[in-house]
Formats: sequence, C-alpha cells, structure tokens
Amino acid sequence: MEVIIRKDAASAINLTAEILADAITAKPDLVLGLATGRTMENLYDNLVERHKNEGLDFSLCKSFNLDEYIGLSGDNENSYRYYMNHFLFNRVNIDLRNTHLPDGATEDLDGEGERYEQAIADAGGVDIQLLGIGRTGHIGFNEPLSSLMSRTRQKALAPVTIEQNSPLFDNPEDMPKRAFTMGVGTILDSGKVIMLVTGKEKAEILAKAVEGPVTAMISATALQLHPNTVVICDEEAAELLTEKDYYKWIFDNEPEWEKYRNLK
Ligand code: F6R
Repeated sequence: MEVIIRKDAASAINLTAEILADAITAKPDLVLGLATGRTMENLYDNLVERHKNEGLDFSLCKSFNLDEYIGLSGDNENSYRYYMNHFLFNRVNIDLRNTHLPDGATEDLDGEGERYEQAIADAGGVDIQLLGIGRTGHIGFNEPLSSLMSRTRQKALAPVTIEQNSPLFDNPEDMPKRAFTMGVGTILDSGKVIMLVTGKEKAEILAKAVEGPVTAMISATALQLHPNTVVICDEEAAELLTEKDYYKWIFDNEPEWEKYRNLK
C-alpha cells in the first residue's frame, strides 16, 4: 500500500483523475471499477472536463460499480445507476451497454451476486478499482464483520451508513436498508486499487484503515493485503496518520511518482 497526501481535496481529486486518465490512455479498453458517493462527484466532473478538453476517450472502456441499493430501479433518482448516468456516463462517450451495476430491482436476490461476479469475470476482471471509505470503514457496502473473502451479495446496511446516506433522500425514511455490494474478496481481485479519501470527518477511520491491524470490523483494512493499492487523501483526512513524513518521502523520491509531483 502507498499513501499519497495532497494539500487539499481538489489536488487529491486531480491526481486520482490524472492516474485514471493515464491508465485509460495506455489501455483504451480498461475495465474500471467505480464508486459513488459525495467524494466521487468532483472526480467525475474532473474526468468529464478531461473528456471535453483533452479528448479522454472512454469509448472502449467497461465499468463495474461496487454497489446498488436493493429495491431501487435505475430510473429512481437515488439509485446508483441514476447517479452514474448523471455524474459520468451521460457526459462522456462510454457505451452504456458496457457499464454495469448490480440490478437493484431484480427479484432474484440470491442469484444477483453470482450473475454480477460472472459478468466481471467475462470482462477479464477489474483493472483499476476506485474506492471511497465510509464512516464504518466500509469499502463498497462491506459493513463491519463482512468476510474478508466475501463476494458480491446482498448486505444489510449498518445504522451509521443509513445515517450517513439517508440525508441524500428526499424522504430519509425511503433509504433502502439493504444493498448489493461487491465483496471484499471481489475488490481484492482487482489489478490495482485507488482509494480516494478527503475531509476531516474521515481522518479517524482512515488512520485505522491504513495503520491499524487487519480486521473484518473495518473492511478497508483488507487493502493492506492487496499488492497494488494507493490511498490518495488530502491533509485533513491524513491528519491522524502517524507516518505522514514517510509517505511524503516516498511520493517525493520514488520514480513512479515523478511525473505527478508538480501536478496542481
Ligand atoms: C459507494 C461506496 C461507498 C462510499 C463511501 C463513502 O459506491 O461504495 O463505500 O464510497 O460510503 O461515501 P462518501 O464519499 O459519500 O463519503
């Protein structure tokens, strides 16, 4: 795992976008693992700008989102399908047929996870998985005690997550209490993981995720087991990390980061 600390959220987002853009340019048929949530909104704006101004080409990309609320169909404004179409897919030249989320409206609740896993396998696996982190330390909707080997499945949401996300619903009571989510094991199978974390309210959980012991109580700690994970955060989210100087030294000295050092 590497941890890159940028001075503010805008530069953490810009670095994440630059790495993704470089990866898409190097491999136009990249399979992207995508996330939703407030943190990602400005990232998707940044990618849309790159598409418009620099010709960043999504035409051959495929995507698989981490999760979807159970009971919401794609035309529901609170569904993650709606979010993705709104913030990214409808604003770039990705082929919608190549964009995938679990089907929140399916009647086959037990079969959906297996179907989704098969679709990921058929696409050759996820090349780069983008993640945020929730207040419970969840990645996707892998709430505390999710098996570190779990696969895509339905999951009950933790009360803290319901509290975190229900204000986004017109009527907070309407927020579904269950979701489909890729498992921790599914996420660990991806070629590279980028976790983007901004804001002081994430400082405590980020310190536990990066520097604490690996535990199913905090699913993001499983990323310590992944051979190619980079955490990109701002100073506020990094505040409680104890080894900040070391992480900064790596960014300032390792050749792989040279081209990104002067990025705004
Ligand atoms: C969303 C997802 C979640 C979020 C996390 C952070 O697809 O998988 O794990 O990344 O809840 O959400 P925000 O960015 O709203 O703080």
